[in-house]
Order: sequence, then C-alpha cells, then structure tokens
Amino acid sequence: MDKFVIHGGRRLTGEIEVSGAKNAAVALIPAVLLCDEPCILENVPDISDVSIGLRILYELGAQVEYLDKTTVRISAVNMTNYCVPYESARRMRASYYFLGALLGRYGRARVSMPGGCPLGDRPIDQHLKAFSALGADCSVNHGMVDLTANQLTGGQIYFDVVSVGATMNAMLAAVRAKGMTVIGNAAKEPHIVDLANFLNSMGADIMGAGTDVIKIRGVDYMHGSTYSVIPDQIEAGTFMIAAAATGGDVLIKNVTPKHLEPIINKMRKIGVNIEEFDDSVRVWVDGPLVRCNVKTMPHPGFPTDMQPQITTLLTLAEGTSIVTEGVWEQRFRYVDELRRMGADISVDGKVAVVEGTGKLTGAPVKACDLRAGAALIIAGLAAHGITEIEDIFHIERGYSNLDEKLRAIGADIHKISEPAASQKLKTAL
Ligand code: EPU
Repeated sequence: MDKFVIHGGRRLTGEIEVSGAKNAAVALIPAVLLCDEPCILENVPDISDVSIGLRILYELGAQVEYLDKTTVRISAVNMTNYCVPYESARRMRASYYFLGALLGRYGRARVSMPGGCPLGDRPIDQHLKAFSALGADCSVNHGMVDLTANQLTGGQIYFDVVSVGATMNAMLAAVRAKGMTVIGNAAKEPHIVDLANFLNSMGADIMGAGTDVIKIRGVDYMHGSTYSVIPDQIEAGTFMIAAAATGGDVLIKNVTPKHLEPIINKMRKIGVNIEEFDDSVRVWVDGPLVRCNVKTMPHPGFPTDMQPQITTLLTLAEGTSIVTEGVWEQRFRYVDELRRMGADISVDGKVAVVEGTGKLTGAPVKACDLRAGAALIIAGLAAHGITEIEDIFHIERGYSNLDEKLRAIGADIHKISEPAASQKLKTAL
C-alpha cells in the first residue's frame, strides 16, 4: 500500500496545471459506445477511474489506444457484449454510465451495481425511472441491473431529486431513442453540459443542457468526433484551497473560471484574494482568514466535492464556521482524521461546527474517500510537522500526478510504497 508523506508548513508558489475533469471523462468514455465510428478524446486525466472506464470498454470489445499521455482513440464499432461484470463495475461509481450507454446502443445492458466512495446510501432509483420512461424493462437481481428494450422511445422524465448520474444516464439512453425526450429537474453541473456537447459533436440533438430542462431528439446515426474534456473544476478548487491554506501565491492554469464561481465566491468571503483570467486564476493570501458558513448544493451551489477541502481551510480561519452538507448523508467521516491533526470540529448529522484554531499539526491519517483524501493533503501541506496519509488509492482515483504537481509549486510531498514505509520505520527505531 502506498502512502503520501508530507513535510508541512511550506508556502506554495508558482504555476500549476489542472487536468481534464474526472466526472466528465468517466461519462464521455462510455458515451463512445453510442458512436458508429471511432472517436478521439483529448485532455483525458491520468487517473485510475479513467483507466477502469477504458478497461471496461476494452472488455466489452472496443479498441482503445493512447495517442499520447492525455489523448485516447476509441473504436466501439464492432461490439456485441453488453455485460459489465461485478469485478469491473465494483471498482468505481461511474460504471453506472455503461447502463445508459449500452441500453442506448443495443437496447440491452447487464451491469453489476456500481462501487465508489462510501458517502452514505447511493440509490439508482432515478436512473431506473429514466430508463423505464424510455420503454426499458428494468430489474435488479443479486446485485445485477438488467435492462432490455425492443425499441427505446422518447419520453417525459421528471426526477424526484436532482441527480448528476441519473441526468447523464437519461441523456445517454435517449440520444438514439425514437422521438423526443424531455428531462425535467435535471442536474446542471458543468460535466452535464460537457456530455451534451460531446454527444452533439457526434450528431446527437440535445438542447438545454446546463438548465433544469433538457430536450433530446433521438437520431439514427452518430459519427466520429475529436473532443476535449473540460478542465476539472474540483481539482482546480483543491489547488486553490491548498494555495490559500499555505498562505501561498499560485496561478492555477487550464481552468474555466465560470465553473469555479461558487468556490471563488466563498473563498473571497474567507479573505482569500482571487484574480480571474481567461483560462487561469491567481490565488494568494495577504491577510487573516476569517470564518464563513458553507452549505453544499447541486450546481450552481457550492459543490459537495469541495466540502472536505473548504472545511479544512476553515480550521485555519479565525472564528466559528458552520458547514452544512446538502447532498450526501455521510460526508464528514474525514473529520476524525482532521481532529488527529488538531482541528476542532463537531459534527451533528449533516452539520459541522468548525472552531478555527489557526493551526494544524502533522499526524498519521487515513483517506476514507477521494475528497477526504484531498482535504488531508491540504491539511498536511498547511500543518506543522509530518503527515503520513494512508489509503491513497482513493486519491489516485481522481487526481492526476498530484504529488508531482504539488512538488512543482514548492510542496514537500512524496509517495512511498509500504515496503519503503516499513524500512523508514525500522531505520527510525
Ligand atoms: N440520488 C437518489 N437516487 C438516485 C440517484 C441519486 O436518491 O437514483 C440521490 C443521492 O443519494 C444523493 C443525491 O441524489 O443524495 C445526488 O446524487 P447524484 O446522483 O447527483 O450523485 P452521483 O451521480 O452518484 C456524482 C459525482 C459525485 C458527486 C455527485 C454530486 C460522478 C461519478 N460522481 O455522483 O462525485 O459528489 O455527483 O455532485 O460524477 C467525487 O467526485 O468525489 C464524487 C463523489
């Protein structure tokens, strides 16, 4: 098992580049199944969730070829397999996008229930509601989801909750259905728009992505496309907070500042300076950080995937902040680890009260999910002393070359493998 070892307390300065968005890429990869010709995806992040998605495509019979480090050519033209087994699906949440894509392509899908970060109950009832509205028979038996439809037909879908995954899956299933589909109460995240843009670049007819009503007119043929994944809003936000937490001055490049608005607004309230350029933002601190309340909401609200990171920043601010989690049942599990680093946070259900102590101290900690891991890295960078983070496979699911990128702006962070870790311990003893 690998670990990150961080010698904290170093001010981050310089320039850092953001990779393609995880939560867009993991939907765009299955979307290639809908295409009658090969496609090229650019700005694909080098993360394990992408490798798993590409691996599933390959196992389904697609040809997958890296043209360079971030460009993949995929041909899903001659395929007949519509089954994603447990071993593959359990490794990431986004394997559920193969449901919509396979159903849209073959009128059949058999996909094991997805894995992913443990954030509380993660039902897929809204996904199944969408598939049923398009005429599919849906069943879930022994952890396998089975979908069949002789002919998918456009339909009216109204979601009971705003769901990113269900909105994307409805789009994937509807693009080749006969007639018009209308999705109401749709999610509006930047990756929803990215999926729509990618599908439209292949000849789909999708209108309204980014609003809460999406209309899709089904098409018979989808042609090849070369498409670049949008920059990762959450990776950018994580770097912004790392810069602020270390009192640094960092230019974060390859971002879409519009996607960062909810994060920028909150950070400015906390006392962080942010200057926006066309495709970069400069983040620096020249005064005290101050308390602020945060509530996570679906886009354009403050993103839940930035909640652990901003909570960490608030431990360094003056005063008492209240952080309310509005999306997931259990997204404060990382707080126990932050407490080990000296944070003063109490949690009651979906509400955390953060007493800013202005200071964190290095400690051995464990990442319990992806964004929790990102928060512990920020804490380790800001803390006095040494922080060792275990279970970093969670972090590598969503952050591309994170230690290397952070080292380039002055962080002292190194990845060590377990044998090296035990050797270090032996030497210390
Ligand atoms: N929900 C239902 N029924 C459903 C689907 C969702 O009740 O059928 C509920 C969920 O329980 C949750 C809420 O709706 O309370 C929102 O869930 P959503 O479906 O939007 O989440 P998701 O699609 O499973 C994606 C991201 C998450 C991110 C959420 C919210 C991917 C692969 N995952 O998950 O990303 O937190 O949207 O923005 O896109 C992460 O990147 O760290 C991460 C967890």
